[in-house]
Amino acid sequence: MKNARVTFIGGGNMAESLVGGLIKDAFSGQAITVSDPDPKRRQDLAAKYPINVTDMNRDAVAGSDVVVLAVKPQMIRGVALEIAEAVAKDAPLIISIAAGVRVGSLEHWLGAETAIVRSMPNTPALVGSGATALFANANVSADQRDLAESIMRAVGLALWIDAEDGMDAVTALSGSGPAYLFLVMEAMESAGRDLGLSAEAARLLTLQTALGAARIAIESKEDVAALRARVTSPGGTTERALRILNEGDLKGLFQKALNGAHDRARELSAILDENNDK
Ligand SMILES: NC(=O)c1ccc[n+]([C@@H]2O[C@H](COP(=O)([O-])OP(=O)(O)OC[C@H]3O[C@@H](n4cnc5c(N)ncnc54)[C@H](OP(=O)(O)O)[C@@H]3O)[C@@H](O)[C@H]2O)c1
Repeated sequence: MKNARVTFIGGGNMAESLVGGLIKDAFSGQAITVSDPDPKRRQDLAAKYPINVTDMNRDAVAGSDVVVLAVKPQMIRGVALEIAEAVAKDAPLIISIAAGVRVGSLEHWLGAETAIVRSMPNTPALVGSGATALFANANVSADQRDLAESIMRAVGLALWIDAEDGMDAVTALSGSGPAYLFLVMEAMESAGRDLGLSAEAARLLTLQTALGAARIAIESKEDVAALRARVTSPGGTTERALRILNEGDLKGLFQKALNGAHDRARELSAILDENNDK
């Protein structure tokens, strides 16, 4: 598997994170190719990683075991149509990381028999701590599933979902999620400053607290509600703060916010479908 011939179409931020992760995970750089139209980008990537670079998408696809579509969602249709013939010939696994682009559209452009994995990573993938959901169409074999998972695991957590509709929920939760947590951190930092802490102290204490809380939650067998209850002593400071947050219906607000993001993810996918049909 570590010798799999992996081709990236698009050599932007997400592709670079994946390439970096794969090299770190001992995938063979010689078997990795990145195709990108920008010569400077190609030069930078080739200088940083022991990989092949090209600007010929079709040639890059030929002979690949897996092709990662890592261009912006608006570019996917053009790229898919361009490589369709090469894909039909060599039948590589296609992994799309383009937000909102449905498997049905990819099948339409690449052929109904194409093995396709749609994935939704999030921005922490750029620092190797991503959360990626994966969905496979019926053409994907067990070995291809393993390969897709090991590629996306190179930048963090990777987990499968059974129904493609779930991707809109994934987008609302982990896709947009970093921004919600940034907002919570922003609010804590600002409140810390208002209580008289220096800007630097408020910032560092907030960030380290967020990291520490996430680590405890990940490493613990208990769920987050139990962990919260355990750090909330009756009559203490945490209890008073949490009571005030509950009075403001924080959970209800998150429910509404995620519903809104979910609806918007659906709308954006539909707009993408509509434009792609033109
Ligand atoms: N960044 C994230 O956190 C994130 C999270 C979830 C999903 N995604 C998805 O990941 C995909 C890539 O995102 P990104 O942030 O890596 O974008 P990006 O940095 O803009 O990378 C896209 C790259 O593709 C190149 N490109 C454009 N047209 C091409 C073509 N016809 N053939 C080959 N390469 C082409 C672009 O070159 P030019 O710049 O010269 O056009 C650019 O280098 C998107 O579909 C996005 O929805 C990203």
